[in-house]
This record gives sequence, C-alpha cells and structure tokens, in this order.
Amino acid sequence: MLDIAINTDQPAAEFYADLTSSAAALVDGEPDAIANMANIAALIWQYLPGLNWAGFYRVIDDELVLGPFQGKTACIRIAMGAGVCGTAAASGKVQRVADVHAFPGHIACDADSRSELVVPVLKNAKVIAVLDLDSPLPDHFRPEDATGMAKLIGAIADSLG
Ligand code: SME
Repeated sequence: MLDIAINTDQPAAEFYADLTSSAAALVDGEPDAIANMANIAALIWQYLPGLNWAGFYRVIDDELVLGPFQGKTACIRIAMGAGVCGTAAASGKVQRVADVHAFPGHIACDADSRSELVVPVLKNAKVIAVLDLDSPLPDHFRPEDATGMAKLIGAIADSLG
C-alpha cells in the first residue's frame, strides 16, 4: 500500500496539488476503473474535511448508476439531468451548490446534506461518471475546492473508465 500523508492545514492550491499527486500515484498502473474509483473516494473522504458522502456515479445506458463511495447508503439510479449529479452529467459542468434545498430537483439521499460539489469525469470528451461530494455544512465548498477537485479528476480521468 502507498504511504500517503497530506497536510490538510495548508493553502488550497498546495493541498490540491498534494491530493492530486496522491490520487495519480494510487491509480498508476491499475486498469480497473471500479478499484480506482474506490480508492479515490476513500482518499477524498480521508483528507477533505466536512463531508458526509464522497463517491462516484457512473454513466450507464444514459443513466447515472451508483459507484464506489464512502458514507451512508445512497440512491442507486439517477436520471440524466435530474438533481445536482444529473445536471453535472448532462451539462459536463462542475456544480457547486451552496444550499441544496434551493437547487431545483435536488435528490435528498441523506436529509443531513446541505451543500454539494459535483465534478463530471470526462473521457474522450464524453461524461463517463461524476464525482459527488456532500456536506452537512451549508456553503461548505469554496471556489478553490471546485477548481482543485476538477483538476484532480482531470488528471486521473483516464483511469476511471
Ligand atoms: N444529492 C444528489 C444525489 C446523490 S446523493 O447525495 C449521494 C443529487 O441531487 O444529485
């Protein structure tokens, strides 16, 4: 196993650079997308503070299907365009939602969730999955979390599908 230690008490740019290096090292040489998603979900869960859910939904037959995650049991299937995850998948754009209750069509898998960050995973210009991060804290995710997490996912997207 890799020996990973990331300082969470440093500026966002440095934190995400370290997190991205660790993510790249974790997936290096491993072709199995499910194994890689499982380890990336665990890595983010361990190092990003204030989460109640961290994981992936995969695009299968034009629908989102629950993938590897950390946290409570979750909705299994989400239609393209539905909720925060479906919006990220349909648009290919990062969704940073300060108040999930104000998001039209938000799907409440866990009533504790208050804010959410969803990053689409693109391979060959197609959305193959989304990374979904939920927090019980309102307005938890900063703009630098959105850019940092998008860079991380961009760096390892080829290993996730
Ligand atoms: N809240 C999400 C659904 C996924 S769960 O939170 C894990 C949404 O609206 O897309």
